[in-house]
Amino acid sequence: MAAIRVHDLNYTYPDGTAALRNVSFVIEEGESVALVGPNGAGKSTLLLHLNGILHSTESREAVEILSETVDPKKVHKMPKKIGIVFQNPDDMLFMPLLGDDVAFGPINLGVAKEEVKRRVKDSLDLVGLAGYEERVSHHLSGGEKKRAAIATVLSMEPEIIALDEPTANLDPKSRAELIDILRRLKGAGKTLIIITHDVNAIPELADRVIVLDKTVVADGTTREVFSDTETLLAAGLEVPTIMQFFEVLQAFGYPCDVLPLSVEGAARNLTQTMEEGAGHIHLHLHEHTHREVNSALGKYRHHHRIAADSGHP
Ligand SMILES: Nc1ncnc2c1ncn2[C@@H]1O[C@H](COP(=O)(O)OP(=O)(O)OP(=O)(O)O)[C@@H](O)[C@H]1O
Ligand SMILES: [Mg+2]
Repeated sequence: MAAIRVHDLNYTYPDGTAALRNVSFVIEEGESVALVGPNGAGKSTLLLHLNGILHSTESREAVEILSETVDPKKVHKMPKKIGIVFQNPDDMLFMPLLGDDVAFGPINLGVAKEEVKRRVKDSLDLVGLAGYEERVSHHLSGGEKKRAAIATVLSMEPEIIALDEPTANLDPKSRAELIDILRRLKGAGKTLIIITHDVNAIPELADRVIVLDKTVVADGTTREVFSDTETLLAAGLEVPTIMQFFEVLQAFGYPCDVLPLSVEGAARNLTQTMEEGAGHIHLHLHEHTHREVNSALGKYRHHHRIAADSGHP
C-alpha cells in the first residue's frame, strides 16, 4: 500500500506567495525518503499538507495518507497515521513539563494511563532524554528541544514519521545518535520522510531522494539523484563530501567506477581496490593531473553572481 500519495498539489499562501506547484509523488510503506531543496522551496509547506494542517483549496483531493484522502475536518484522526516533527521545536512544546508534552498526544488518542506512562518513558529513552519527564520544556537547550519534539511524536506510535530538519542544531554526538534513532525506526518498518540540508547524512538515512523546488525537480534512488550534479546545483544543493573527494582521487588516477557516498562506502571501496592491487593503491601526478583536479573541484562549486561584475565584457 502507498503510505503517501500526493497528486498535483498546488498551494498558494493567503498573501499570494505560490509555495507549491503541481507536486506529485508516491511513497510506499516502509520507504525512507529524503526531501531536499533550497530555502523557500516549499518543503515545510508540503509537510504541513500531509496531516491536513494546510489544505489546498485548488486541489482538494491531492493528498492521500495510507489510501485515505486527508480531510481538514478529520485532522484529529491523523496523528495515529502520520506524526510530523516541525522545523521549530518550540511549535511542539507547550506544556510546563516535558513529560506532559510527550504524554499529550497519546492521552488525546485515548491511550490508557499506564500505557501512556510506558510510551513517555520509551520515547524519551529512544531520543536520549531518559529521566527528563520533570524538566521544564522551555528551559531545554536547542538540541534537547529538537530531540524532545521527536519524542512527542514517537509517543503516538504513528506508522509514518515526517521530520523537518531533524539533525539541524545538533552537536556531532547527538547528530550521530539521531541518525541512529532514524535508522532504527526505518529498521522497524516505519515509513520516513526526512527534510534535510545535511547531505552527508542522507546516504545513511534514505533509499530515495526527492528534490523539491516548488515542484518536484528530481526523484530517484539516492545514488541516481546525487549523480545528477546539474539538477542539484541548479537547485542550490550539493553532493556528499566523500563523493566529491573520490572524484578528486579519480583525477589522481584512482580507479573508481562507482563513487562512494559515505565514509563506510569509501572504506569498502578502498579495501576492494587494494585487494585487487596486491595491497597497493597507485596514484600519480601527470601534466594533466592539475587540470583534472581543478575540474573535479570546480564541478561542485556554486557560483555567486555579483551585480557589480555583470554586464561588462
Ligand atoms: N505563513 C506564510 N505566509 C506566506 N508565505 C509563507 C508562509 N510560510 C511560508 N511562506 C513562503 O512560502 C515559501 C515556502 O516556504 P517553506 O517554509 O515551505 O520553505 P522550505 O523549503 O521549508 O525552506 P527552508 O529550507 O528555509 O526551511 C517561501 O517563499 C516562504 O516565504
Ligand atoms: Mg522549512
